[in-house]
Amino acid sequence: MSSKIPAIDDFCRRLRATLGNRLRTDEDALVTVAGDESGLTPCQPAAVVYPKSTAELAVVAKEARALGIGLVPRGGGTGKAGGCIPTATQVVVDVSRMNRILELRPQDQYAVVQPGVITQDLDIAAAEHGFMYAPDPGSRDSCTLGGNIATNAGGARVIKYGATRRHVWGLELVLPDGTSMRVGRRSLKGVGGLDLTSLLIGSEGTLAFITEATLQIMPAPGAVETAWLTFSDLMAASRAGERLISTGITPRIMEVMDRAALDAVRPRAPFRIPANAGAALLVETDGTEDQARADLLHLVEIATQCGASDTAVASSEKQRNAMRETRRLVSTALKDLMPHKISDDVAVPRSRMIELLTRAQDLGAAAGTLVSAYGHLGDGNVHLNIHCQSADDRKQAGKLRYDILRLVVSLGGGVSGEHGIGIAKREALALQDPSEALALQKRLKAVFDPTGIMNPGKVFL
Ligand code: MLT
Ligand code: ZN
Repeated sequence: MSSKIPAIDDFCRRLRATLGNRLRTDEDALVTVAGDESGLTPCQPAAVVYPKSTAELAVVAKEARALGIGLVPRGGGTGKAGGCIPTATQVVVDVSRMNRILELRPQDQYAVVQPGVITQDLDIAAAEHGFMYAPDPGSRDSCTLGGNIATNAGGARVIKYGATRRHVWGLELVLPDGTSMRVGRRSLKGVGGLDLTSLLIGSEGTLAFITEATLQIMPAPGAVETAWLTFSDLMAASRAGERLISTGITPRIMEVMDRAALDAVRPRAPFRIPANAGAALLVETDGTEDQARADLLHLVEIATQCGASDTAVASSEKQRNAMRETRRLVSTALKDLMPHKISDDVAVPRSRMIELLTRAQDLGAAAGTLVSAYGHLGDGNVHLNIHCQSADDRKQAGKLRYDILRLVVSLGGGVSGEHGIGIAKREALALQDPSEALALQKRLKAVFDPTGIMNPGKVFL
């Protein structure tokens, strides 16, 4: 069927032989790749392709470049910043069919994967060998490793194990001209030349396609212990969090939820949240059985000294999973209640967290709007939610949002701790990056993508 866009018609003609019915222009297919989880308005692309191999993806890139067609890489579509939302004249490159774990080498502590592998699947595969893939984004059961690398995704275990970047050793890329190459390494250590692997991590599809990744897997700890700690309010929980970290124990997880988060999630929470909870910390330790237990009990004791009104230690795997799942459900529970809310994933140096939370609440109060918080307290990365009840409210809250983002930057932080810039934070990037650094980034992009076909309109204004 003709697309009314001559270049797209040419593109489809040229690629039909290679891709067959893995090139689609029908609404049934287009609607499934129109949006993500940012809440931004979806848009159906002109076409979607589902390559199955690096070679196929290279042909797609080459033809698109020849015809000047913008390409939008897509993994699980779970992004929160609009990074994979296309325009009506662009083509989505959905890598979900490139979903094989190609190698799993516990003896060398790495796995080689295609970009469409679901994050959780690698962790499960590694577990069969007593290993784990440490990064643990909230959407781990539906996001892809390619998407995680493209956004340097975070998650709950970052406090101990670091974000995605720390676990990527090497990549295979397809440049927009169709050239494919490997960058990085398959050894624990490696130095030499410029670190192109690092440059690609977090580049949000603006430089090249990631077609394969060498990822670190680590021996899984023998034991994990989990506690749900209840406090009167967010400040009490945050101050306790600060004390817990100063003990010298590095928890595996330290997540915070304020009253709004708890109230939103309570009706669907598999863990029974105490009725009087004004805030909560979810804390985990790991190590040997004795160590994990001793560390957790020590943290629980400190939390009690810091005013925790209720402390629940998971006594079974089922209860641990209920606690974790309750925290994971916060995002969707709040979104369902308040579809127009603004949520930013800001990050500050950990010691500035209490100041951030206090001043953000004050800015909200001055604007007559509730600003609530939940997230990765131990990483200095929280999801600040501006409570907007309508689209109009959301527009009005634009100034408050920017006041908060400026505050974050003034505290030494950044506008995105884990979700990326995408479309949602393009204007905000200039708050944190000086103009010389932004100009250099654009020059680097032009080296990779001189004709600007890679995820046009994302990250950079
Ligand atoms: C989370 O921490 O739950 C996820 O990053 C999603 C979000 O709430 O923004
Ligand atoms: Zn998060």
